[in-house]
Parts: sequence; structure tokens; C-alpha cells
Amino acid sequence: MTRPGTQGYAAEAATLLQQYESIDFATLHAAFLDLIPPAPARVLDIGAGTGRDAAALAGMGHQVLAVEPTAELRAGGALLHPSPRLAWLDDGLPGLSGVVALGQSYDLVLLTAVWMHLDATDRAAAMPVLAGLLAPGGRLWLSLRHGPVPEGRVMHAVDPAEVIAQAEAAGLTLLRRREGGDTLGRDGVHWTWLAFARAP
Ligand SMILES: C[S@@+](CC[C@H](N)C(=O)[O-])C[C@H]1O[C@@H](n2cnc3c(N)ncnc32)[C@H](O)[C@@H]1O
Repeated sequence: MTRPGTQGYAAEAATLLQQYESIDFATLHAAFLDLIPPAPARVLDIGAGTGRDAAALAGMGHQVLAVEPTAELRAGGALLHPSPRLAWLDDGLPGLSGVVALGQSYDLVLLTAVWMHLDATDRAAAMPVLAGLLAPGGRLWLSLRHGPVPEGRVMHAVDPAEVIAQAEAAGLTLLRRREGGDTLGRDGVHWTWLAFARAP
């Protein structure tokens, strides 16, 4: 299936493997680390890219499923991060049909730098799917990129208020919101980070 948001990633995979892996998981997620459930938790990393976050969480003792529709990133990430606690799946938003078919629920669902690749229709469709994958008490984290769109990529302007409203409509509660600069120092780029919880 073609997913418009993946445009540009395959061609740049070799560069992105280095760029994404140059970011430290604990630094990037510093404001949310206390929200990580105790190990061993079931973690779903959607749009996992090179698996930086997935591998860090597997290294903490969690069982992680990394979902990545770009074959070149998925293959590179799997080579880079071999772990018995980290599995990879070719699937994508909004439907996540492969993930849903597994019939599992997750204590933490992570979408780092992915949500702005979805258009309004797909965002509206995806949120209930994500909420349905959370175990009772489970958490959903996502980051939204704001600012100029790199050439060759497909990104949409997303109002954090829309994400909060959609998550609340899907039965989730906002736990935390943070605004921050760009770890890679790109001009004009800034981020919103949101964490939600499903009721226990
Ligand atoms: C900016 S990268 C972020 C990668 C990784 N999460 C990180 O933080 O390094 C965005 C990722 O989202 C993936 N992606 C794009 N559209 C997607 C979709 N519809 N469903 C799932 N992943 C998607 C891309 O293939 C790419 O790996």
C-alpha cells in the first residue's frame, strides 16, 4: 500500500540511518521518561524509522514491536538493532491492519515525528485505532513537527488542539504537553510533545 507520508524516506535511508541514530533516546524523550511503564511492558513504536527508540526501550527490558512502512529503514534498523525483544513489522497508519490482526494490546504506544505525515482524514481515522490498541492504563506519546517541510517530503500542519480533542473523543486523557526546539538544530523547526493515558 502506498502511504503518501513515506515519500522521500527510501531514497534518503542511508543518510537517515546516521542522522536518526545520532539522537539520544533519553535526551529526546527527557520530559516523558517517568511515564515509561515498568519493564517488561508491551511497547508499539509506530513509524519507528531506524529503530532508535524501539531499541532503547527493548534495552530497558520491554517487548517492542517496531512498525515501519519504509522497507529501507526497516531493513537498516533491524540490522543495526538485533534484539530478542525487538520485532519489526511492515505496516502503517491510519489502519494498522497488520498490528490490529495480531490482537495484542500495548502499555506504551509511541509515535515520534510521525503524526504530521497524516492528512486530516487519516488523522481522524487513526486516533481511534491507536486508542483501541492501548491496554487499560496504557500510554500514548506522540511528537508533532512544526515549521518548514523538507523538499520531497509530505507533511501537514497539525494543531495540537486537534490531536488533544481527537484523543479525548477516543477516551484518552491528556497527561502532559511540552513544546521544544529541534534536537538536530534545523532552522524554524519546533516540536509539540503530547502524552495521553487510557483509563486503568
Ligand atoms: C521523521 S521519521 C521518524 C522516525 C522515528 N520515529 C524517529 O523518531 O527517528 C517519520 C517516519 O514515519 C514513517 N511514516 C510515514 N508515514 C507513515 C504512516 N502512514 N504510517 C506509519 N509510519 C509512517 C516514515 O517511513 C518514517 O520512518
